[in-house]
Amino acid sequence: MPTLLLYGVYLFTLALVFYSISVWANWFSKQLKLWHIYIFLVGLFLDYLATILTYISLGGLVFTLHAIVGFISIFLMTIHVSWAIYIYVKKEEKAKLNFHKISLIIWSFWVLSYLSGAISGMVKLV
Ligand code: HEM
Repeated sequence: MPTLLLYGVYLFTLALVFYSISVWANWFSKQLKLWHIYIFLVGLFLDYLATILTYISLGGLVFTLHAIVGFISIFLMTIHVSWAIYIYVKKEEKAKLNFHKISLIIWSFWVLSYLSGAISGMVKLV
């Protein structure tokens, strides 16, 4: 696997750690807190960085099943954090209490995207 792509994989894995901490801390506390959003933003930043490294390593856009699912999951993650910031700033108390339910659905899709990348990467190594 090219070195840049490998760095991308490390960053996707770090993004998985940060995103998971944020979503699961939110799930257990059932209340959206500011630090959940900060950790979430770190995860999103790492996700973008990893995608940029992947893009540079591949030398352009590719449209494999994993790549398409990957683009969709970055888009969903961006909407997800924007929604979190919106309800936090606007002090939407009811939405803050319900946020963890939708979070788990979007996070699950993101994890599927991560797994599809891991499978795609492994197939290329064989
Ligand atoms: C949720 C995490 C991930 C996201 C959002 C993601 C996103 C993407 C995107 C958007 C592309 C297309 C880039 C382009 O067209 O230039 C891509 C390609 C690729 N990614 Fe990921 N990726 C993730 C995880 C992984 C992981 C964990 C691996 C390997 C262990 C991986 C390996 C690859 C490979 C080998 C490609 C080239 C196309 C392919 O083989 O399907 N990705 N990824």
